[in-house]
Amino acid sequence: MKYFIIVLIVSINVTCGLLLSADDLESKWDSFKVTWGPNSFDPEYFVKQPRTIAEAKQNNYQQISDQCEGNFLGQRFMKLNDYGAILIYDNQGTIAGVQMGIPVSMITDKFYQYFTQKMFNRDTIAGVYLYILTAYFVDPRTICQSGRNPSHLNHDGTGTGLWLQNGSNPIRDSIEMPLYDNTVSNTKWAKGACLPTMGYHYWYDNRLDKSCDEFFPAFLLYNKNKLAGFGWIVIGKFEFTKRTEFPPITALTSLQEPFPICIKKRFEEAGGVTAMHHFFNNQTWNILC
Ligand SMILES: *[C@@H]1O[C@H](CO)[C@@H](O)[C@H](O)[C@H]1NC(C)=O
Ligand SMILES: *[C@@H]1O[C@H](CO)[C@@H](O)[C@H](O)[C@H]1NC(C)=O
Repeated sequence: MKYFIIVLIVSINVTCGLLLSADDLESKWDSFKVTWGPNSFDPEYFVKQPRTIAEAKQNNYQQISDQCEGNFLGQRFMKLNDYGAILIYDNQGTIAGVQMGIPVSMITDKFYQYFTQKMFNRDTIAGVYLYILTAYFVDPRTICQSGRNPSHLNHDGTGTGLWLQNGSNPIRDSIEMPLYDNTVSNTKWAKGACLPTMGYHYWYDNRLDKSCDEFFPAFLLYNKNKLAGFGWIVIGKFEFTKRTEFPPITALTSLQEPFPICIKKRFEEAGGVTAMHHFFNNQTWNILC
């Protein structure tokens, strides 16, 4: 059924796509959406996120931090206490990143070494102690310094790149991801499979004998040779927000090549994985592979 829906959507997309110029098909960063789903028209999938504080406030997001100090940069907002998708804005109120929080109480180190994986930081938000994954869409050094105004946002789009915070210090430890797929080969990111409406998945340091305890909790998405999004993926099925996805093992084995041997067993023991796709392009239906 899901496959049928994808085929149907792709057919609609191809028809729409033909009406657009090649330029429109390039991955413009004209939006920010989270959560993949089989049906692009379902309001719970590809959920558009506010790219300015003004828009966030209009949509009832609440501010949870406003200082540029400590473990994270920027001003952070979330909607209805949903720490599954925390938005980060710079000092001018323009989108600068995103976080996912997972309640520490749901996690057991039996299935994954959360404590030693540098990507996970910790924070207490709305009284809940969380593991936090953080991505920035601009050079982290600019977030509390220059920031961006609305005309920058219009011109550059949602971001100028992707930086993953791989440690407790957001300036020192954030790593810039390759913006174009022709520079990926100089890195440890390995190409996986492409799915329409998702893009080409890239996995960090992927190999058959990869240790499950070192599995990197993020993947990159490319479309038309350019970074078009990214995702979080953690071992364990954590149900605390509507924004996460719980892919079946068959989806994982088809997207990751080679598929690390240990993961199948770990998937069963931990009850699955929790993932979340993020997209920078409005027209996700144009991601055709
Ligand atoms: C994150 O940091 C760890 C430990 O310093 C390092 O081994 C790993 O390669 C880094 N990840 C990326 C994506 O660079
Ligand atoms: C995003 O797509 C929707 C639906 O096609 C459209 O109404 C909207 O104007 C688009 N926004 C941008 C920024 O292109």
